[in-house]
Amino acid sequence: MKTNEERRKRIFDAANKIKEQAKEGGRGFRVVITGKGGAGKTTTTAMLSHLFARKGYNVLAVDEDPQMNLPYAIGIPREEGDKIVPVTKNLDYIEEKTGARPGEGWGLMLTLNPDVSDVVERFGIKGPDGINMLVMGTVVQAATGCLCPENALLEAIVRYINLRNNEIILMDTQAGVEHFGRALAQGFRHVVIVTDATFNSVQVAKHAAKLAKDINIPHLYLLINRVRSNDSKELEKVKQIMKDEMDIFDEVFELPYEEKLFEYEPNVMPLLDVKPSLGIVEKMNELMEALEKYDKQ
Ligand SMILES: Nc1ncnc2c1ncn2[C@@H]1O[C@H](COP(=O)(O)OP(=O)(O)OP(=O)(O)O)[C@@H](O)[C@H]1O
Ligand SMILES: [Mg+2]
Repeated sequence: MKTNEERRKRIFDAANKIKEQAKEGGRGFRVVITGKGGAGKTTTTAMLSHLFARKGYNVLAVDEDPQMNLPYAIGIPREEGDKIVPVTKNLDYIEEKTGARPGEGWGLMLTLNPDVSDVVERFGIKGPDGINMLVMGTVVQAATGCLCPENALLEAIVRYINLRNNEIILMDTQAGVEHFGRALAQGFRHVVIVTDATFNSVQVAKHAAKLAKDINIPHLYLLINRVRSNDSKELEKVKQIMKDEMDIFDEVFELPYEEKLFEYEPNVMPLLDVKPSLGIVEKMNELMEALEKYDKQ
């Protein structure tokens, strides 16, 4: 039988360990980019990756999107991009790390906390401007909490990347913050939520913002994308739908509609060098500066 004293000490030690881990994670600079399908997450992640890389940061851009189009947006050539296999589709790696192959044998045999510290070295791809990319693949959606090997691996990867140092990590995710729960909150201190000024898109943004607050991610930014008016019509509409939740955000940015994105898509890189600077690039620069400012707080 354990005495109350021993129990208390165990709880105290465990709490301290979590705090230490949180501090470890807090040393890095971690940003998750989320929002409704098509809102502009990949465009934002790719542009920020280049801007941070050009400012001298080591950038790791992580793709958690089912369509895995981040490498193309960053400017990886088609032939190279087409060969990428996301980590969660690499059955041998999953088995090596979790002890089970997707679709079979999950349960008792599954290692829920695998060591994935080799993941960037084995699967990282070098892109233009020296950007390092990791295509993770996506969360398996299940009606009840899914204990499948892919999700165990994804969570382990997020936990692991929290511990990397001297690097800015930008994660493009369709799944939203909830799927990574505490693993994400341990290291990610910034959530950028991208939305159009439409009811459905703002609803998704509102939901994502509340969840990010619930898991205590300290800094939230709202990007209102494809703004066409000069009189803040889109901003006013978003405020009306957001109501009080608008106060959750540290900063709000209005990104202009930019025809040139269509001209060059999927690659965002040519837009960064257009002179004079495009409005959307200026806004991304402002966002970058806000991220740097709040990360120091
Ligand atoms: N401000 C903008 N002006 C014009 N086109 C834009 C703008 N932002 C994004 N787009 C275009 O809209 C399309 C969708 O953008 P993007 O792929 O970044 O969205 P996403 O949120 O990542 O989508 P998905 O959910 O499908 O991954 C792209 O073709 C992109 O070039
Ligand atoms: Mg995308």
